[in-house]
Amino acid sequence: MKKLISLILILVFIFLFTGYGNATAQATPASETPAQTETQTADQETENITEVGPEEAENEEESDNTTLVVVFSATGTTRGVAEKIAALTGAELIEIVPAQPYTTEDLNYNDRTTRATVEQNTPDVRPEIANEISLDGCTTLYLGYPIWWGQSPRILSTFVESHNFTGITVIPFCTSGSSDIGQSDDTLAAQAESGNWLQGRRFPGSVPEDELRAWIKESGEINLEKSLRLSINDTEVTVDWEENESVDTLINLASAEPLTVQMSMYGGFEQVGSLGSSLPRNDVQTTTQAGDIVLYSGNQIVVFYGSNSWAYTRLGRITNMSAEDMTNLLANGDVVITLSLE
Ligand SMILES: Cc1cc2nc3c(=O)[nH]c(=O)nc-3n(C[C@H](O)[C@H](O)[C@H](O)COP(=O)(O)O)c2cc1C
Repeated sequence: MKKLISLILILVFIFLFTGYGNATAQATPASETPAQTETQTADQETENITEVGPEEAENEEESDNTTLVVVFSATGTTRGVAEKIAALTGAELIEIVPAQPYTTEDLNYNDRTTRATVEQNTPDVRPEIANEISLDGCTTLYLGYPIWWGQSPRILSTFVESHNFTGITVIPFCTSGSSDIGQSDDTLAAQAESGNWLQGRRFPGSVPEDELRAWIKESGEINLEKSLRLSINDTEVTVDWEENESVDTLINLASAEPLTVQMSMYGGFEQVGSLGSSLPRNDVQTTTQAGDIVLYSGNQIVVFYGSNSWAYTRLGRITNMSAEDMTNLLANGDVVITLSLE
């Protein structure tokens, strides 16, 4: 009798786990089930679930940003990655808010009768979105979502089918327990019927900023150097930044929050200030001109209004000011410079 009960229990267990992989035609292989790979607990999921009311959702309407990050995230993991992408690109972040929020029970993939799993098993279902999301003026869109049973959640289909992506480069990204992005990006592109859709990419929730920055650069849609802004006191100047590791690290430093550096006049030709941390350096003997921005000694930024010869790492060059303008701005007392992302 005991043996019979054990056999029945084993059969039920096998049925449950292989059943997961069969939820849809494109679902994850059993070896990649979230049951085995997910790091978040049910309790964490409850804490993270966004329940934004329609009033808050309305605030997210209308945007004239050219780069947007639009994300659906049921338990906060994809939102975390989206926040990092938004910080790195200077883009506005907009969440897709479900009209009916997903509860912890809705997301319980161990029970195949719960909402998220039933939706994934019903290709035509289109969960309603609570907020109006405007893509006016957008030319680059990062679109993020979690993988549910090997696919994007059906609410992503609601989103792509109700927007026009003409003139927009769409860059999908996702998080998951372990599954790759699979066909989910291609399926969304086909459903959208418009837009220039790039190959999507899966990230773990803990993806380091460096990896995201490299991916953003790879996609070629955002020139991060162009997004790095420099203000001297209250005057914003145009800079042609070098494409090197030092500038990459500077962008990283300025991406979390604007970096403010107290500068001091020195030598009658420059303003110099400590960055507070070291950047990678590749010093080369250089004779500078007014407008040159260099790294000195690995951890100090120098802006020139005159000339000097020393071994520096070039960071960039101010292009919208004459030597006279530079002298007026920099030779009349110490300044504060601010580096920020657009
Ligand atoms: C209904 C459901 C199905 C899931 N299916 C998969 C899957 O097929 N493969 C996988 O690796 N992870 C799967 N997961 C795990 C999620 O993709 C992962 O936890 C994701 O990072 C959650 O993102 P979010 O916090 O932004 O919602 C699933 C999660 C849920 C709730």
